[in-house]
Amino acid sequence: MRRIGIFAGAFDPIHKGHVSIMQNALSKSKVDEILLVPGGGQPYRTPIASPQQQREMIGLALRDVPHARIADEGLLKPGQNAIDTVRAIMRAYAGAEFTYIIGADKLAGLLHWPKAGRLFELCDLLIYPRAGYNAQELTLFALARGVRAQMLAVQPVNMSSSLVRTQIALLSDAREMILPEVARYIAQRGLYHPPYEAQLRPQMNPWRFAHTLGVRDLAVELAWHHHLPMQKAAVAALLHDCAKRMKLSQLQAIAHQYRLSENPEVLKSNALLHGKAGAVLAAVKYHIHDEDVLNAIRYHTTGRAHMSPLELCIYVADAAEAGRSDYPGLAEIRRLMWDSLPQAALVSMEGTRAYVASSGQGYSLDTEAAIRDLTRRTQQHQSA
Ligand SMILES: [Fe+2]
Ligand SMILES: [Fe+2]
Repeated sequence: MRRIGIFAGAFDPIHKGHVSIMQNALSKSKVDEILLVPGGGQPYRTPIASPQQQREMIGLALRDVPHARIADEGLLKPGQNAIDTVRAIMRAYAGAEFTYIIGADKLAGLLHWPKAGRLFELCDLLIYPRAGYNAQELTLFALARGVRAQMLAVQPVNMSSSLVRTQIALLSDAREMILPEVARYIAQRGLYHPPYEAQLRPQMNPWRFAHTLGVRDLAVELAWHHHLPMQKAAVAALLHDCAKRMKLSQLQAIAHQYRLSENPEVLKSNALLHGKAGAVLAAVKYHIHDEDVLNAIRYHTTGRAHMSPLELCIYVADAAEAGRSDYPGLAEIRRLMWDSLPQAALVSMEGTRAYVASSGQGYSLDTEAAIRDLTRRTQQHQSA
C-alpha cells in the first residue's frame, strides 16, 4: 500500500533542514512519497511571506527532492487544524497509508493538545530530532500512550525558519540554512527585511520608485551571477537614491553636519552629494550599519579607487537597470556586466566623464581615481 508522508508546517521560508528530513524519510523508506502542507495544522500563525510566495519557495526547494510535492491548495481551508488537514488529504488519497512527519519541538506541544488522540488514530507519526529536544524520550512517551510512532535517525535539525528570517533581516543570505534559489527569491521580493519599499514609495516620484526597483532587480541578478551577497545588493539598491529628492540646501546641511566633503564642486552638486548624504540617511534613518552596503550607496554616483565587488554591482545596476532610456554606451555596459563588473563600471564612468566634460557640470576626483584604478584592474585581468 502507498505510504504518504504528510509534512505540515509554516515553511516561512522552507530551509535545508526541511529538505534533509524529506530526503532522509524517503531514502530510509519510511514513506513512499511526501505531501507538503504549507500552513497546514497551524491555524493561529500569521505568515510573513504570502501563501503564494511560500508555495513558490517550496517549489524551488523541491526540485532536488523527487517524490515530494506540495498538497493541492484546494485541500487547505483557512484556519483548519492538523486533524482537518489530515482528513482532507485522506479523502483525496483514499486507499493510502498516512504518516504525519513532525519535529520533536512540535510534538512536545502536540502531545498536550486535548484533540491529539484523534490525529494519532488517523495516522502514524514519524518524529525527527530537533536541537534542544529529547526526541527519543518524546518518542517513548508517545509509544507509551499507544501512538504508532517512530523516530527518524538523523542528526537533530538545528535551524529554523525564524532563524533564517533573523539572518535575512541582518543582511545575510543565510546560505548555510536555505538553498541558493530560495535566497535569490527572497532577495528579489524583499521578504523578511524591513519594508523599505513601503517607506520609500511616498518619498519618490513614480519614475524614481520604478528606477529604484529596477536597480534592485538587476543588482540581485548581478549578485547571483557573480556570487556576491544578494541581500546586501538588494538593500543597497533600494536605498541608493534615498536622498535623491532632497533639496540641495538639505543635502548641504547634512554634508556640513557629517563633514562629507570640503570640495566646493561636490558641495554645489545634487548629483555628487546625494550618494554621500544617502549613506548618512541609510545609517541614521534605516539603521544600516554594514560598511560595504553604506559604501555602495555612498559611491554609487562617483565611484572611487578600490571599489568592492558590491560597490561595483550597485554602480553598474544603477547605470544599466531595465528602465533606463538608451544612452551612448548602455548596450556595451549591459553586455559587459555579466562578464566583468569592473569593465562595465569603467565603460560607464568614461561615458559619464565625457558627458560631464561636454555639459560643464561638477565632476568628482573620486571618479578620476576610480577610472585609473579600474583601468589598471581590467588590464591586469586581461593580461592574466
Ligand atoms: Fe543616484
Ligand atoms: Fe539611481
